[in-house]
Amino acid sequence: MSRSARTALAVMVVMILSGVLVAATVAVRSATGQAVPQQAAEPAPPEGQTYTGVKDCASCHFKQYLAWKKTGHSKSFDLLPQQYQANPACLKCHTTGFGEPTGYKGPTDVNLQGTTCEVCHGPGSNHSEVCKGFGKEKLTPEQERIARDTIWLMIPKNVCVECHAVQGHGESQTPPELRTKQ
Ligand code: HEC
Ligand code: HEC
Ligand code: HEC
Ligand code: HEC
Repeated sequence: MSRSARTALAVMVVMILSGVLVAATVAVRSATGQAVPQQAAEPAPPEGQTYTGVKDCASCHFKQYLAWKKTGHSKSFDLLPQQYQANPACLKCHTTGFGEPTGYKGPTDVNLQGTTCEVCHGPGSNHSEVCKGFGKEKLTPEQERIARDTIWLMIPKNVCVECHAVQGHGESQTPPELRTKQ
């Protein structure tokens, strides 16, 4: 056996052994009934919140705002050619909350243009209002809990496919002449 073949064999043995070890550890932990710590289900934020728009969210979450700003989601309205910017067939995927009572209505709703925060976190007026009452000091654990419980870390539905799923190649609702990728 060549040196490199022996090394390869040794690596494989180590890999298999560590695989067995991991499997054994998992088995032992599940046998004691403590395999995976139960993650507490996220409480449902209060219902009836209205959309407030990206500017409001950014006032407290500037870091997340800057990260979002770099993604295509921040530009998904601006990339619509002018003649489509009022077309309902486009707005449902290129704005926030179009068709919902407090969602995007028209050109004055600049803070709901594009795929903004509330597309993924859900409408957050209540969250925003509650947090504004907290003042400037470091939050108490209780305040932090209240802040977290008033907004989804991620809205519990497969929101991505509402805009990204297409039936098959070429069936995208984006007009073919405007697509840069197929
Ligand atoms: C007045 C300040 C303020 C405003 C405005 C605000 N938030 Fe928050 N937000 C907080 C605080 C405080 C927390 C809890 C501590 C933390 O996670 O930073 C929080 C937490 C969050 C979380 C984490 C939730 C979790 O379960 O961990 C998300 C997501 C969030 N905010 C989204 C938003 C969105 C979307 C908006 C706009 C609709 C918004 N926030 C507006 C202060 C604010
Ligand atoms: C309301 C509609 C909508 C929803 C919901 C949505 N997206 Fe998008 N997304 C878009 C549009 C429109 C673009 C095109 C932006 C562009 O080309 O610049 C896009 C672009 C992207 C891109 C390319 C990013 C980039 O920076 O260029 C990725 C990746 C993506 N989305 C992932 C997701 C994921 C993951 C989710 C769910 C968590 C999601 N999207 C939810 C509409 C949406
Ligand atoms: C079902 C959701 C949906 C609808 C409706 C929709 N789009 Fe899109 N659009 C997207 C997504 C998602 C992207 C991101 C690129 C991708 O994933 O195909 C996108 C990308 C685009 C782009 C960037 C193209 C590229 O390839 O970079 C343009 C321009 C565009 N759409 C225009 C429109 C117009 C105009 C309409 C209305 C006639 C429209 N879209 C309707 C979801 C949609
Ligand atoms: C395409 C979906 C999407 C959009 C748009 C989006 N987020 Fe998030 N955001 C997420 C997801 C998913 C997480 C959870 C990441 C994780 O599990 O740690 C998250 C996490 C957060 C958190 C919790 C702390 C952290 O950084 O993990 C805050 C606060 C937040 N987002 C604020 C915002 C704000 C403000 C905007 C708009 C400027 C925004 N998000 C836009 C999907 C999104």
